[in-house]
Amino acid sequence: MQTGILKPIPHLATYLSFNLQSMDAKPSALVCLKQLLQAADGQRIVVGLSADLCKTLGIKAPRELRAFKTPAGTKLKLPETPIDLLVWLRATPAQDRGDLLAISRKVKALLGEAFVLAEAVEAFQHLSKNSTKSRDLTGFEDGTENPKGQKARDFGFAVDGSSFLALQKWQHKWDNIAKMSPTEQNQAIGRNKQTNAELETAPLSAHIKRTTQEDFTLSDGTEGFNLRRSMPWSDGVNSGLMFAAFGKSFEAFELQLARMAGADDGIIDAVFQMSKPITGSYFWCPPAVAGEITYKL
Ligand code: HEM
Repeated sequence: MQTGILKPIPHLATYLSFNLQSMDAKPSALVCLKQLLQAADGQRIVVGLSADLCKTLGIKAPRELRAFKTPAGTKLKLPETPIDLLVWLRATPAQDRGDLLAISRKVKALLGEAFVLAEAVEAFQHLSKNSTKSRDLTGFEDGTENPKGQKARDFGFAVDGSSFLALQKWQHKWDNIAKMSPTEQNQAIGRNKQTNAELETAPLSAHIKRTTQEDFTLSDGTEGFNLRRSMPWSDGVNSGLMFAAFGKSFEAFELQLARMAGADDGIIDAVFQMSKPITGSYFWCPPAVAGEITYKL
């Protein structure tokens, strides 16, 4: 398994999205990818491949891997933005933004013959100085109900150590948020921003009511947990949450998202009043053992 997925989120990170340059780049793409997987340790550099890329390059991927589509029956059409290759750079405590930029340049150079960089998103922790908990830019603690220990392994990874990543870049609607009172914001999430306590009387549209993981059943009979490793992002103008859910499959994410978008009862999650997804993509994070991604291309 790529152990960076299991670890708490780093203080700084960069999400690099790459696309295959063209069909002519196919032969060199495999070489570039091998170089990347040799350089990536799965801990400081986590790698995810898309269904499309695996198909194009003839890489044998798990059957569950597919492109992201808005779940059926939802009342909202969500952005579907396929990306071939994702590289999540996770800073060590000693590294700063300059170090991450230097690593980004190296990764870009490794892949340069076959892939183009589509986007680089800079992410960071918020309000975590005196705490191990990170908060969303709205101030709410994020990640509280994540599974821990063995449960995190069981829900975050398939038996072979693969992990399936659902990634959505959410852009916050700061004008709307400014118009919401503290009580309205608490009601939208279903928790108290200051204390993080669950509200006793949260409306059905409250985010944590929509997504309660125990309320879902996966096809293997287990509850609908996954490992959320989301981080605040900003490009200096816009900002929001880089939502990242790792799972043993995409199933838990899809069930949660479908209910958020009104598929079960027509009720839309109130988090959509505060933020909107502007991307949506799926990736397969191949297994890694002892710090090395062992998947052989
Ligand atoms: C801007 C977008 C989002 C924001 C600001 C946000 C924020 C939060 C916050 C503050 C919590 C409560 C603390 C916690 O348990 O982590 C939470 C819980 C949760 N969120 Fe989100 N979230 C967002 C999007 C999503 C999406 C897209 C999904 C899945 C499709 C999701 C799934 C969950 C789940 C599963 C929980 C835990 C529910 C439970 O079992 O109690 N969130 N989120």
